[in-house]
Amino acid sequence: MTDKGKSSQVSGFYKLPIGKRVEFVKNFSGLNEEETKLFSSCLDMDIADRMIENVLGTFEIPLGIAVNFLINGKEYLIPMAIEESSVVAAASNAAKIARIKGGFKTECTDPLMIGQIQILHMKDVAEAAQKILAKKKEILQLANEQDKILVKFGGGAKDLEVRILDSPLGKMIVTHLIVDVRDAMGANAVNTMCEALAPLLEELTGSKVRLKILSNLADKRIVKAKAVFDKERIGGESVVDAFLESYNLATIDPYRAATHNKGIMNGIDALIIATGNDFRAIEAGAHAYASRSGQYTSLSLYYKDKNGNLVGELELPMAVGIIGGAGNIHPKAKLCKKILGIKTAKELAEIVASLGLAQNFAAVFALSTVGIQKGHMSLHAKNIAVMAGAKGDEIDKVASQMVKEGKIKLERAEEILKEIR
Ligand code: MEV
Repeated sequence: MTDKGKSSQVSGFYKLPIGKRVEFVKNFSGLNEEETKLFSSCLDMDIADRMIENVLGTFEIPLGIAVNFLINGKEYLIPMAIEESSVVAAASNAAKIARIKGGFKTECTDPLMIGQIQILHMKDVAEAAQKILAKKKEILQLANEQDKILVKFGGGAKDLEVRILDSPLGKMIVTHLIVDVRDAMGANAVNTMCEALAPLLEELTGSKVRLKILSNLADKRIVKAKAVFDKERIGGESVVDAFLESYNLATIDPYRAATHNKGIMNGIDALIIATGNDFRAIEAGAHAYASRSGQYTSLSLYYKDKNGNLVGELELPMAVGIIGGAGNIHPKAKLCKKILGIKTAKELAEIVASLGLAQNFAAVFALSTVGIQKGHMSLHAKNIAVMAGAKGDEIDKVASQMVKEGKIKLERAEEILKEIR
């Protein structure tokens, strides 16, 4: 292993025993002894019992660390909570390749969320819309009275938009409240504001307000990540061409786009979960955004630069917070944020997008060259060996024999186990 000081670049990290990996992360992120012990602990039952209802216990999934990430010139180790094998290794490998051309570069909008207020049963929809817009200042003021702290930190309700929609129930108005939520995910702040505005909007329009809720299509809170993947390192221009051919299908075919985007979400969800953010919100926003042209398509974009290198870009909504929510309660989520060393939700969003792009590049690269199964098989074989009852050294022996034979089946694992015992 080569540890270059505060660099996240390490080789052979996966070969280290868990204790040594923890030691590396501890030194990189300046964790104390207590924080280090958290890695092998379970969520306290009292905390779990306060987080959701009818609690029976906790459900563990592995927490790994993706290495080699260089994002906007800063080194990151990225915690990933995920049950699928090969994902963490693939992200680390993609990040290693991206480093050759300077790593990931990102951009992020202000953290603007949309709250929707639905108004029905108006006699004159256009007139009602005018009345709402005419009182924009008062409406924003009332919204901002609901969250003085957010306003103090530079956030709060910033704008109001009125949309008129046709529906089987007749025309309706959907008022969009645009709220700068700063370092929060923002659901609570936005929902509170929307609910507080309902009586005023009913009074202004003489109509009925129904839904008052944030939109997960957070298309005013967009993050972009970009990286250049060195053509020589990935096998030359023919591999870049093969990659672009594979990618092309995701741009024209929703059946492929869904799988392509799933690969992106493999990385994204793992970090969203590790930081205690709402992965359902991110998933919903991502897929709605992927359909914004009217056809579901790839969230990422790939092309060749003038030197024939592969350029990848990823753009999607990113409603993540570093304050509030489960991320403030769950000790491991707090630990993961410390490992990242993030100061703002914007910085977290930029890491998430870079990880999503890395994951997507790794998957399409594998699919365009050796295929996806090769990488999966050795870990899969180990899982089958464990299912067959292998313990300790037996696991590797049974797994490598099955990989050698190209036959990874439970019956074969049981036979090999009998043979070696
Ligand atoms: C598997 O979890 C993800 C992939 O299917 C993504 C892709 O096909 O691009 C490998």
